[in-house]
Amino acid sequence: MASHTLPVENIGLENLDDSMIILRYIGFSRKFNAMDDTTCQWLKLNFRSVRARIKRGNDVLDISIEHVQVGDELIELHTFPPSLKKLTLVNQRLIQELKKRGFLKFRVQRIKKQLTLSQAKHRENVLKSSELIQKAKESVVVSKGATKAIENLIDDSRHGKLDLGDMSDYVDKIINNGATEALGIISSLKKSDQTYAHCIDVGAIFQSTYVKMMEREGTVLTPKQSHRMLLGAFMHDIGKAKVPKDILDSTARFERDSPEMKLMQSHPVFGAEILTKLGSSDTIINMAHYHHVKMDTEIKSSYPQASYQEVYMETRLIAIVDVYQALVGRRSYKKSWAPPAAIQFLGNLSGIEFDTDAWDSFFQIMGQFPVGSLVELSDGSLAFVVQPAEKDLNRPRVALIRNVKGEDLTHNTLIDLQEEPEIKIVRDLDNYEVLGDASLEIFTSLRIT
Ligand SMILES: [Fe+2]
Ligand SMILES: [Fe+2]
Repeated sequence: MASHTLPVENIGLENLDDSMIILRYIGFSRKFNAMDDTTCQWLKLNFRSVRARIKRGNDVLDISIEHVQVGDELIELHTFPPSLKKLTLVNQRLIQELKKRGFLKFRVQRIKKQLTLSQAKHRENVLKSSELIQKAKESVVVSKGATKAIENLIDDSRHGKLDLGDMSDYVDKIINNGATEALGIISSLKKSDQTYAHCIDVGAIFQSTYVKMMEREGTVLTPKQSHRMLLGAFMHDIGKAKVPKDILDSTARFERDSPEMKLMQSHPVFGAEILTKLGSSDTIINMAHYHHVKMDTEIKSSYPQASYQEVYMETRLIAIVDVYQALVGRRSYKKSWAPPAAIQFLGNLSGIEFDTDAWDSFFQIMGQFPVGSLVELSDGSLAFVVQPAEKDLNRPRVALIRNVKGEDLTHNTLIDLQEEPEIKIVRDLDNYEVLGDASLEIFTSLRIT
């Protein structure tokens, strides 16, 4: 059917979809009522050669966009040149942009049939993963800032000062932006240190798994509870403030009963003291106090002495996250583990070092291949995991980064491995070995299609 025979209709932003092209922009937010200089300039720049119907005083004029003036009221934008296809051909990116800019109503023509259900599902997943990638990108800066804030906090409390202000601001920012999950995901793609970035990464991974775990049980955390838990998780190692900095920052392995090791292993007790003084909740204190207590408390690496019954469910979860981060975080002095390898390793310790219920929840949420893992597919192409698996934990959604010929891709096709039974993950790869320092940059620049 020729496109000119297809119906033309007026619709609102919420009904736009990518089976349409926009013929005219016909409804605008209030800022277009009496336009200011910035709005005029912006229109001229972005709608070059488009025609505008405007109200100027009592007159309605049809003019070229170049002639709009401050104070004009915009009624309609029409006659788009072919060079401005990106403003007329509807896709998810354009819809987001229109929403942001205050364009509300459109005259559209349907140019193709509605998407099939699986196309619509694909689109939805593309959008979801793209949002996550965007948040991951923003998280890079937040992660650095929060790491500095926890370092300052630990340094200050060394001198008896304890001001949570900065840290608390970061917590607000992360929660308000819904960026906890993204912050946790980048932790396996960037460099980390054993103390400060570790605290932030552990906090973020803990919080995002904890929130999902609670949701599965039918509990939704209030913003206040979320704030408290994330701040508490960031501070699980706050007791390290009482360990001399040279011991703390040393990358040497201390002998088991050496004074240095004893001091290091006192950090949970110190942490519980500090948090008790601060008036923190029982759960937060428990997390700091017992995150190194193993299920089998006789194990040498279990400290301080405690009965496992005293260890709260939240603490049992952060204990897993703590070791997971230590494995996947890239340190200057050691190679990191690929997330799937770390998952497998920790799985073997479930029921010995880690509580089985906490492990099961963690594993269900992270999957066999956590988001951010670099994997090789059965056809030889490489992909990043961008969405966790839902049913089959071996089959997450992945975005291709390198094709079968070994060429790097500029657009990254999303594959739902659940829907593609003939493709599977054959092995996980060390992102640093394959992509070097560019891993984080490549992941946060994915253009998922
Ligand atoms: Fe610790
Ligand atoms: Fe820790």
